[in-house]
Amino acid sequence: MKTTISVIKADIGSLAGHHVVHPDTMAAANKVLAEAKKQNIIIDYYVTNVGDDLELIMTHNRGELDTKVHETAWEAFKEATKVAKDLGLYAAGQDLLSDTFSGNLKGMGPGIAEMEIEERPAEPFVVFMADKTEPGAFNYPQYKMFADPFNTAGLVIDPTMHEGFKFEVLDVFEGESVILNSPEEIYDILGLIGTPSKYVIRRVYRKADNNIGAVTSIERLNLIAGKYVGKDDPVMIIRVQHGFPALGEALEAFSFPYLVPGWMRGSHYGPIMPVSQRDARATRFDGPPRLIGLGFNVKNGRLVGPTDLFDDPAFDETRRLAEDIADYMRRHGPFMPHRLEPSEMEYTTLPLITEKLKPRFKKESDVTKAKRSIYENTSQGTD
Ligand code: 13P
Ligand code: 13P
Ligand code: MG
Ligand code: MG
Ligand code: MG
Ligand code: MG
Repeated sequence: MKTTISVIKADIGSLAGHHVVHPDTMAAANKVLAEAKKQNIIIDYYVTNVGDDLELIMTHNRGELDTKVHETAWEAFKEATKVAKDLGLYAAGQDLLSDTFSGNLKGMGPGIAEMEIEERPAEPFVVFMADKTEPGAFNYPQYKMFADPFNTAGLVIDPTMHEGFKFEVLDVFEGESVILNSPEEIYDILGLIGTPSKYVIRRVYRKADNNIGAVTSIERLNLIAGKYVGKDDPVMIIRVQHGFPALGEALEAFSFPYLVPGWMRGSHYGPIMPVSQRDARATRFDGPPRLIGLGFNVKNGRLVGPTDLFDDPAFDETRRLAEDIADYMRRHGPFMPHRLEPSEMEYTTLPLITEKLKPRFKKESDVTKAKRSIYENTSQGTD
């Protein structure tokens, strides 16, 4: 029987600003999932958080986009929101953009990454979860893991990986996707995914047998809500070992703290910093954007683990570099390229400024005329 891993997340409110999920809200979500497990809706689950995002990791046999599983997640978020409201937490219910559940959670606000798999004899996988960034932030590491032999030695050494991988790339504005082959089409792949605000790697498949290796949440809240409602802090599931990247190859992709959008008010670029669960709290300038990685095995749907993968001095240098980059970027203040480009600021309150100042803008030709007449008057006066 096939196993489905469903990672569904939402920001339902947080303690002391967009900082961290409150333990009581996690307990409320936990209770709903425990009940769903008792009723055999799900086989197993793990509730966690990265910053202000509540993360539900669930396993079951019901396939992707299953109504009962999604309804369970919805119920968990609703119950957690009730607690958040009761405690007066900040931005309670932030990512729940709709009141009525109908069928599944697509387009309702929560981020969703699901994969249905035939379990291998040993089925290790990693759930990566980030705060203060967006789905396209996982383009870079997925490329490193599945297409770059300087990151992933297995692409050269492992015969089952040697043929390469297929990338399903989604245009989030048009709602269309394309499948591209690596290594043959890597320049085309990079041509698209180098614009991560528009093109997001949705799934990666092993070319040899079309087995799925990666899936990422693709929900962009502002495209759903039409206005800024927080960032779309993403999640990603990566299968590792046995014809997929080794665990260490998957983690190696995060050894460089590359720049991602989503820091402070969702409006700034900053370095992504891999941290332990303990440090998964947004602080400096509401960040820097943080990433956790939890390693599991799944056996007949039962979750074994997790292990906290970035709780490791091997990533101290990455974090130190991230801090240096954070200093450097911060010194730009409100200037690009620290602040996002205008097209990405469309959903914030920035357009209100240009709207307000519109009547005071004068045509350049009129300005020149006005200046000339001032000059003429002055020269008359001094004669
Ligand atoms: P071990 O001998 O520790 O199992 O090493 C396996 C390996 O090559 C991991 O990259
Ligand atoms: P969240 O999406 O994490 O709530 O981000 C809000 C924000 O931009 C805080 O600066
Ligand atoms: Mg928040
Ligand atoms: Mg968040
Ligand atoms: Mg968010
Ligand atoms: Mg070993």
